[in-house]
Amino acid sequence: MKGEKSIAGFSKLSKRGKLKWIVENFFKDPELVMHELKSYWLPDEQQKILDGFSENTITNFHLPFGVAPNFLINGKTYCVPMVIEESSVVAAASSAAKYWQSRGGFQAEVIDTIKVGQIHFWYQGDASQLQLQMPKIKQVLVEKVRDLCLAMEKRGGGVVDIELKSLAPQIPNGHQLFVTFRTADSMGANFINTVLEKMAIEFVRFCQEDEALRKAEVEILMSILSNHTPECRVRVEVSCPVDSLSAPGQDLSNAAFAHRLYTAVQIALEDPFRAATHNKGIFNGIDAVVLATGNDFRAVEAAGHTYAARDGQYRSLSYCSIEDDQFRFGLEIPLALGTVGGLTNLHPMARRSLEMLENPNAEELAAITAAVGLAQNFAALRSLVTVGIQQGHMKMHLSNILQRLEATEKEIAQALLYFRDKAVSQQAVREYLRLVRSPQT
Ligand code: MEV
Repeated sequence: MKGEKSIAGFSKLSKRGKLKWIVENFFKDPELVMHELKSYWLPDEQQKILDGFSENTITNFHLPFGVAPNFLINGKTYCVPMVIEESSVVAAASSAAKYWQSRGGFQAEVIDTIKVGQIHFWYQGDASQLQLQMPKIKQVLVEKVRDLCLAMEKRGGGVVDIELKSLAPQIPNGHQLFVTFRTADSMGANFINTVLEKMAIEFVRFCQEDEALRKAEVEILMSILSNHTPECRVRVEVSCPVDSLSAPGQDLSNAAFAHRLYTAVQIALEDPFRAATHNKGIFNGIDAVVLATGNDFRAVEAAGHTYAARDGQYRSLSYCSIEDDQFRFGLEIPLALGTVGGLTNLHPMARRSLEMLENPNAEELAAITAAVGLAQNFAALRSLVTVGIQQGHMKMHLSNILQRLEATEKEIAQALLYFRDKAVSQQAVREYLRLVRSPQT
């Protein structure tokens, strides 16, 4: 069996069978690896829940669960759960939260919560006939999916509108039904896709039965939600008099600090190379909250980056102004999040995260998440335009290397002092430890 790298029927094997095949075929020390991978298993009941989220699971992959306290958002203070593997992110969010807590906190507003689904199809006939029939089509389709929408409508959601859009000339005879939804406190992906698929069937039926439309063929290509949700957007801001915007270190005036922050944002608005990194910093915060609350971070990233390129160029998601000696820093971002449905109620830690946030509704969660994104962006820029990012990063990096090299507490304390003004690298730390540990030293 060893060296046999492909397999038929893998998914049918038991979990132990899968694990056995993996360790025997891909690892030099199967027994050791088997033992290690099994050590990450949870007790049966908990494990069953996790295994239900995916397929072919053989073990669990842990990520740190941290918290950023002192987030004052719309007058309420939150302790925000964050799941992230990158050092410094939670520290940066916490520090920025504290900074703005004493300056009025974050003001957040959900602009709207509209979501989008599309039914793509070909119609070989006269598109103007389709357009003429749209009021009737809309009425029929909404009626036909009523049963699927009842529960959602009770919660304040449902289908909002249906429009016909042409994809011609790029897609000959190509069209789409552009369907908008509100999904209350759920992210709504399953609801939207289920409704779209039923609408697609009913749409074809309508076209085949309609006097004017049945002369030409209609063929559905696909029905799926769009992760571009520019109308499901939240805006969050912080502001303070320039006088109160104190910079880290002593050499920089508050006005100079404000100007440096402002310019950093302007660069990210103009230059896609900088914008990508700038927005990545924002998503350091956003993804961590999205993950902790059991939401779909790929959907949130897709929406955010598409929105960042909405005018044809990829730009900063955050903005900054200095007017009448008032510093204002804000972020506008699409966030399609849920606090019910999906993983939010199934994943035990997602449930605890939401409980820690005092069970927010979807809009409140979007406000909190956006605030963490803005805090992260502020913290990154504050470091970048003053002391540089590496100072903080390297301290963490150094601690990580020291821990990996099994340094004692005393050695760690000494190393932190020693490396205060020196470049940190794996090699340099190893050499340092070798020296301090050698008997001659
Ligand atoms: C690192 O994960 C994120 C930053 O690069 C963001 C930024 O440059 O603004 C520090």
